[in-house]
Amino acid sequence: MKKTLALLLSVLMLVTLLAACGGDKPTDDPADGDQQQTEEPTTPDTTEPTEPEAPAAGGTIGVCIYQFTDAFMTTYRNSLQEILEGKGYQVSTVDGANDQAKQNEQINSFITQGVDALIINPVMTSAADQIIATVQAAGIPTVLINREPTAEQMAVYDKLVYVGCDARQSGTMQGELILDTPNKGDINGDGKISYIMVQGDPENVDAQYRTEFSVKALVDAGMEVEELNLTRGDWMRERGQEIVANDLAQFGSQVEVVFCNNDDMAIGALQSIQAAGRKVNEDIYLVGVDALDAALNEVQAGNMTGTVLNDAVGQATAAVEQMELLLGGKTYASGEQSVYVDYVKVTPDNVGDFMK
Ligand code: GAL
Repeated sequence: MKKTLALLLSVLMLVTLLAACGGDKPTDDPADGDQQQTEEPTTPDTTEPTEPEAPAAGGTIGVCIYQFTDAFMTTYRNSLQEILEGKGYQVSTVDGANDQAKQNEQINSFITQGVDALIINPVMTSAADQIIATVQAAGIPTVLINREPTAEQMAVYDKLVYVGCDARQSGTMQGELILDTPNKGDINGDGKISYIMVQGDPENVDAQYRTEFSVKALVDAGMEVEELNLTRGDWMRERGQEIVANDLAQFGSQVEVVFCNNDDMAIGALQSIQAAGRKVNEDIYLVGVDALDAALNEVQAGNMTGTVLNDAVGQATAAVEQMELLLGGKTYASGEQSVYVDYVKVTPDNVGDFMK
């Protein structure tokens, strides 16, 4: 009897031992990931699941740009690519060709490919709701850049952050560049500043705020202003050239100040100013935003009154930083989903600091 009991006990022990060795345990421990197919026993029962980790090397990132032909966004996307690749990510950057439907397809295709994170420069700010709903449904950490949605639109998804600048600041600085001239923009001394406004894409807050705040700075300083014309140039150089050629033909020497919402349009404007025989800083003022290399050269040469640095490298760096925080598991409270990089005023005095 004793013998049978001992035998029974040893059989029982053997069965328990076999079970403990993992005979029944599923081998696909989620912590192992797909690639790790090692036969080695993994550290036994690593208790709690770990925090999601940033896939520092080998993570895949999809970058959607609204339009590759945009001069400023070209500097920005090159910078993004360089920073991401420098950190070991696999990056795929696509051109939305200024077509929201096309960009929606690109976002869906990145989601199907299973990217780890998305960086999106929306084609249309008005499409933000749809973009946010799509990335939220897929649970993809997303950084929006350059075209800012409202805080309410972003609040629905806590793995979403916007990186950009406060465009009001750039508008105010453009106004200050004019106020800093010897006659505060009133070249003909008639007591008012007569200007033309060359606007970016008005769907974009950058265009709205720069238009509003450049003039507001003049008015706040007690100046009288006269708007001769306001035309949308959609951020493009050729449009800046056309618009200013037309305005100079129509208003001639009445035009004292040319405000351009960005540098590429200001470079186009300069061609028309020169073609009309006008001389910047003598009989007309010209300001832009972005501090593109071409504009820095013109500021230095005295052919632009000034520009405002739209810090592409700073924004690309901040976008990648925020993306890594998201990949590390960070979530954002509503009202805290915008990260801003400062603009900087560029004049002939400090332009050297910005030239490579
Ligand atoms: C602005 C920039 C413009 C244009 C635009 C595109 O911030 O100043 O040059 O790139 O973004 O949304």
